[in-house]
Amino acid sequence: MSDFVNGFWGYFISVVAVGGVVWCVWLLYTQRRWLTNKPANGKVEDTGHVWDGDLTELNNPVPTWWTWMYLLACVFALGYLFFMPGLGSYKGQLGYSSTEEVAKHQAQMAEAVRPIYARFETMTVPQIAEDPGAREIGQRLFLNTCAQCHGSDAKGGFSFPNLTDGDWLHGGTPEIIMKTIKEGRHGVMPPWKAAIDAKTAGDIAQYVRSLSGLTTDPVRVFRGKREFGNFCVACHGVDGKGNQMLGAPNLTDDVWLYGSSEASIVKTILDGRDNRMPAHDHILSPEQIKILTAWVWGLSNKPGTAAGGDSTATPAATPAATAAK
Ligand code: HEC
Ligand code: HEC
Repeated sequence: MSDFVNGFWGYFISVVAVGGVVWCVWLLYTQRRWLTNKPANGKVEDTGHVWDGDLTELNNPVPTWWTWMYLLACVFALGYLFFMPGLGSYKGQLGYSSTEEVAKHQAQMAEAVRPIYARFETMTVPQIAEDPGAREIGQRLFLNTCAQCHGSDAKGGFSFPNLTDGDWLHGGTPEIIMKTIKEGRHGVMPPWKAAIDAKTAGDIAQYVRSLSGLTTDPVRVFRGKREFGNFCVACHGVDGKGNQMLGAPNLTDDVWLYGSSEASIVKTILDGRDNRMPAHDHILSPEQIKILTAWVWGLSNKPGTAAGGDSTATPAATPAATAAK
């Protein structure tokens, strides 16, 4: 019943379903004379339609087997509506429910994978990140739930952060990554159109570019620096290195969500940016979130590679290898 916004639609559907069957039977009943009509003296009436000179359309009654099939279909329909859910909120004599079926399968699945995840319950995130089995699970989870935004190599794209570069908007500790996955994030850079004109925004963009050592016009950088001090330091810091509490990016590392061109930075300043990472705690189980946390953490904290030479391939190569299978 929860599928309907109110009781009316349940009745509406019942009336249409039963009415349809009744109508079919009624149609058959009213045509019964014609259906049993045997052509008089073996001559079949024709409709008077003629094609190609001699191709005539006859008006034969349908064969008897067809009439029976038609009736049986109506009986089947009524039987189905009696046993199965089909009449609005009526659940059917057999009490079948596809929702319960799905829930049952999901419970079976959860039971089946429990032993696989149980192993990781007592392990820390860095330990899980080193476990080859966990990394495989983590990567598969990532390809299923995260890759559509962050890319199958986790290197992100326009507005989607790169998760492999050790540069973090919100922070890269296991706790913070886990919080990001569970609750999602909302990165808001406010628009400044009302306070800053396009020319000044261009000067500020020049200064922002200079922070990453990109080519700039020194005079405009000088003007931009002053305005940056007025409008931007509250979130991006006096040194432009950002603030992870606010999700304000470091503007000095030449890592960009929206690109480094003056036009793009001006657009960010004038129009602002509104960026959302959705919460995943309703899609993923706590065990899955822990494994994903470890996988993402492992992308920029190569476990067991203090001596260098990780045999398990770089994060960029790993998803590609899976995709090739
Ligand atoms: C619908 C797109 C989308 C999906 C799906 C998505 N993300 Fe994100 N993610 C984002 C965006 C956008 C941001 C940046 C949010 C911001 O600007 O503050 C982000 C940020 C992050 C961050 C923070 C990065 C930093 O620099 O602090 C992490 C970690 C992360 N995502 C991991 C994941 C994982 C793991 C998954 C899969 C469970 C996932 N994301 C699924 C869009 C997505
Ligand atoms: C209220 C806090 C706040 C203020 C003030 C603010 N920003 Fe931001 N800014 C942010 C946040 C948060 C983001 C990240 C948006 C996102 O996650 O998409 C951001 C993103 C940016 C980006 C995009 C960086 C990239 O990686 O592409 C630039 C450039 C930028 N800000 C420049 C400025 C400049 C210049 C000013 C001053 C005119 C300014 N910001 C003022 C919070 C702020």
